[in-house]
Amino acid sequence: MKLADNKATLSFSNGSPSVEMPVYQGNIGPDVIDIRKLYAQTGMFTYDPGFLSTASCQSGITYIDGDKGELLYRGYPIEQLATNVDYLDTCHLLLKGELPNESERTDFHKLVTNHTMVNEQMQFFLRGFRRDAHPMAVLTGLVGALSAFYHDSTDINNPEHREIAAIRLIAKMPTLVAMAYKYGVGQPFMYPQNDLSYSGNFLRMMFGTPCEEYKVNPVIERAMDRIFILHADHEQNASTSTVRLCGSSGTNPFAAIAAGVACLWGPAHGGANEACLNMLEDIQRQGGVSKVGQFMEQVKDKNSGVKLMGFGHRVYKNYDPRAKLMQETCNEVLEALGLENDPLFKLAKQLEKIALEDDYFVQRKLYPNVDFYSGIVQRAIGIPVNLFTGIFALARTVGWIAQLNEMIGDPEYKIGRPRQLFTGSVKRDVKPLNQR
Ligand code: CMC
Repeated sequence: MKLADNKATLSFSNGSPSVEMPVYQGNIGPDVIDIRKLYAQTGMFTYDPGFLSTASCQSGITYIDGDKGELLYRGYPIEQLATNVDYLDTCHLLLKGELPNESERTDFHKLVTNHTMVNEQMQFFLRGFRRDAHPMAVLTGLVGALSAFYHDSTDINNPEHREIAAIRLIAKMPTLVAMAYKYGVGQPFMYPQNDLSYSGNFLRMMFGTPCEEYKVNPVIERAMDRIFILHADHEQNASTSTVRLCGSSGTNPFAAIAAGVACLWGPAHGGANEACLNMLEDIQRQGGVSKVGQFMEQVKDKNSGVKLMGFGHRVYKNYDPRAKLMQETCNEVLEALGLENDPLFKLAKQLEKIALEDDYFVQRKLYPNVDFYSGIVQRAIGIPVNLFTGIFALARTVGWIAQLNEMIGDPEYKIGRPRQLFTGSVKRDVKPLNQR
């Protein structure tokens, strides 16, 4: 970390001595005040629920400029990656810091491909679930269970174990997500076919059957790949911070990633794509575009508890660049499938138009996020709504594991252990039962 020229001074109105704290500069983005010695020097903690002003780590992986609406993976703009490279190249970039050259690319693709199959025993474990279980419940279990099957890659302090766990997770997630889907619809599991691309293989495991040959549609394959790239990492969001915190205890990588899957499930995070599509379908059922005005009044009424899902972001105070790319993919996929007049897409565009002109949204700087259009694309591809967050988890696995491995390699890393402002009862004595 690079020390800035200036320091921060904290003074107190009660005459306690002031304290000086170092300030560090990142390569881009806001500087940080180092408060690590604050408690030792003052006996006080800082208070920041929701981490509104707290950098929990240093990281060189992903950078977001929320005001500009800019997203960089290892310095490369998301627009360039989404257009010029594929998901596995993006995985190489996130994990190793650089895009692969030709021979590195061949080796990396081959390495991942060699690990796409899961232990045969996993399917018997999966069969313990109800057929109608939510895929995220199944995935949380399956990913955690990987640690019971791959004992040779569970030592987080061993760089070789970390490397192989990373490859296994990236390679096996599509297989597990497709298995969770096939189990729910009662179809046979499809084994991976390694001469297909990462995305093509996933599509075949999802939609192929042993009865006939599955032909990958290149437009859908490219759309799937783009969905994976757009979701691959997003710096210190809730699920990534969960993975880091979980991994900081020294637990194994599969357990840490399972914690990330569990966190992602929530509707304020990865679950928003499912919630967004359910919202669009509800409005459509109630009358579609003609009901948009009424729905927006509910969204603006604080007492209604209704939110415009797929809108707003803690960091982006401008258009989420992923939403723009997703809208582009939406157009491509709907056109390729002859669904140009898809009513939900029309409805989504109408909602976006109204929101972007409405004072409520303008003042709060609320723009569409990645989840606003991703559900429409996935639905057109044939992915069921309750699997959307599973697709997000598949794609984000590389981000989680890259961030986890970065943390373990950071000499400043410690077990994560936030403090608290205690507002409960002061010390008191237990009374006998008849006096309580
Ligand atoms: N609809 C209506 N009002 C909203 C929305 C929305 N989608 N999002 C924020 N607001 C309002 C919020 O009520 C608050 O108003 P006020 O200042 O009057 O109290 C103001 O905007 C600021 O919002 P906040 O809740 O303080 O912002 P936050 O940073 O804590 O929450 C968020 C961010 C993403 C959880 C929130 O915008 C939200 O719930 N959006 C809908 C869910 C969603 O689409 N999530 C996906 C995020 S992107 C993918 C991912 O990272 O997983």
